[in-house]
Amino acid sequence: MIVRKSLSELEKMRAAGLLVYEVLQVLKGLVKEGVTTQDLEVVAEKLITDAGARPAFKGYESAAAGSKYPYVLCTSVNEEIVHGMPSAKRVLKPGDIVSIDTGVQLQGYYGDSAITVPIGEISAETQKLIDVTRESLELAIEQMRPGNRLFDVCGTVERHVTTNGFTVVREFVGHGIGTQMHEEPQVPNYIDRRNENPRLKEGMVLAIEPMVNAGKPGSRVKADKWTAVTEDGRYSAHFEHTVAVTANGPWVLTRP
Ligand code: MF3
Ligand code: CO
Repeated sequence: MIVRKSLSELEKMRAAGLLVYEVLQVLKGLVKEGVTTQDLEVVAEKLITDAGARPAFKGYESAAAGSKYPYVLCTSVNEEIVHGMPSAKRVLKPGDIVSIDTGVQLQGYYGDSAITVPIGEISAETQKLIDVTRESLELAIEQMRPGNRLFDVCGTVERHVTTNGFTVVREFVGHGIGTQMHEEPQVPNYIDRRNENPRLKEGMVLAIEPMVNAGKPGSRVKADKWTAVTEDGRYSAHFEHTVAVTANGPWVLTRP
């Protein structure tokens, strides 16, 4: 069942979303050569807790991993797709890209967003990977209108990525979001015909999160049980927004 949100609920999700945005903006400004992903973690935790919110990822229980996620952020560098763990040993260097993903719970409602940030000079190919991933999210957001269907969102990501010569990850997906971080429906970055294709209605809120590989689509999870990496070792990019369907069109809750 897809839970639809009232305007007053959306206002609370908006507050959560704007906090996530502010945190990501600060972190983006800090990312440079020599900074560690643990440095980003420390800053994010303070910003979130000072705002009276709860970091949504920290303590999140995953059946697949068989453990609770221990950090506020997921910081996924280069060939890491998602769920990379902050570390004082991971020093960012020129040519790297880092996906910074975070979520908060505020007044009972969740916000979830991610950006991919380059460090120093990156190759033209890597810049294109980042651009196409961001564009695929923007195009998918445009589909978040009453009367469209879920597959319009999923298929839009897939088409933009594949026509540009990249691939979408299949093992990880976006999701409904509200009073739970993960609600129905799943939002794959491709049309999965095993799933239903519900019509989008006012008050539905989805976290759309394209995960795009430069090379082959395959992924595997490292021995830490969390970090997802590309099988071929090539780079992967990730962007995410929490987006509501409204009568006036898409409302991106995780940006101003
Ligand atoms: N944006 C991701 C998601 O929606 C991040 C979750 S990390 C976790 O699943 F630690 F909370 F699992
Ligand atoms: Co998410």
